Amino acid sequence: MEGELSNVDERVVVTKQYYTSRAPTIDTMLGGYSVVHESDIQESEQLLKTLFRVRKTCQEITHCFHSGVQLGCGIGRVTKHLLVKYFNRIDINDLLPEYIEQTKLNLGEDLVDKVDKTYCCSIADLIVDKSRYDVIWTQWVLGYLDADSAVQLLKRLKLSLKKHGLIILKDNCSDQPEFDPDDQYYVRSPLQFYDVAHRSGLTVVKDQRSRLKQVVRELLPIRIFVLANSR
Ligand SMILES: C[S@@+](CC[C@H](N)C(=O)[O-])C[C@H]1O[C@@H](n2cnc3c(N)ncnc32)[C@H](O)[C@@H]1O
Repeated sequence: MEGELSNVDERVVVTKQYYTSRAPTIDTMLGGYSVVHESDIQESEQLLKTLFRVRKTCQEITHCFHSGVQLGCGIGRVTKHLLVKYFNRIDINDLLPEYIEQTKLNLGEDLVDKVDKTYCCSIADLIVDKSRYDVIWTQWVLGYLDADSAVQLLKRLKLSLKKHGLIILKDNCSDQPEFDPDDQYYVRSPLQFYDVAHRSGLTVVKDQRSRLKQVVRELLPIRIFVLANSR
């Protein structure tokens, strides 16, 4: 695609430059649209509550959301404002060490103890323990990987889910695939998301259109996919 660097390492360099040349703020995390931060968290919280209710009715489950991980956590916007409320233990990942540190700082003394493992690496290289997570949260980060690398990642993540675990994938999703050369980000179509999920052995158990575009019309359409192991 236009502006796409063919070499993965070069893409990562551009992505790093994009973030390190900007202030570590919610606005940067949201591509200049910090105005949607609260709506984003509210919408995601509603989804988590729904999933929590569904899971609670499943007799096999006594505690639902014990352990979670956020990929591409940035400065901890979602970790702090949402995930720590619902999980006893949360692992975090980001490419930038300064974002991992900022996430911990932003959580503050009271909440930082909930952070267990920190993975400072590209999600392309992320290796996680088997059967560790109830929920894997990946929001506006999977687009940094090409489709084949995304499939490889999701295959590994699938193994890291507990029996009834879920992957929440919230991302830009446009009928016309796009590529942003500024930070080397792939915007996939719904079909491409389904293809990546299918190739990874995951089933889309929920596919929800985000309402954030109603808040800011210039945003790309956003979808929330809930993925579960296909077996
Ligand atoms: C658009 S921001 C979103 C941050 C956070 N998910 C949120 O919603 O507030 C993208 C984040 O992904 C991180 N990132 C970029 N490429 C990455 C990669 N290959 N692996 C892990 N994190 C990456 C960036 O450092 C940045 O923190």
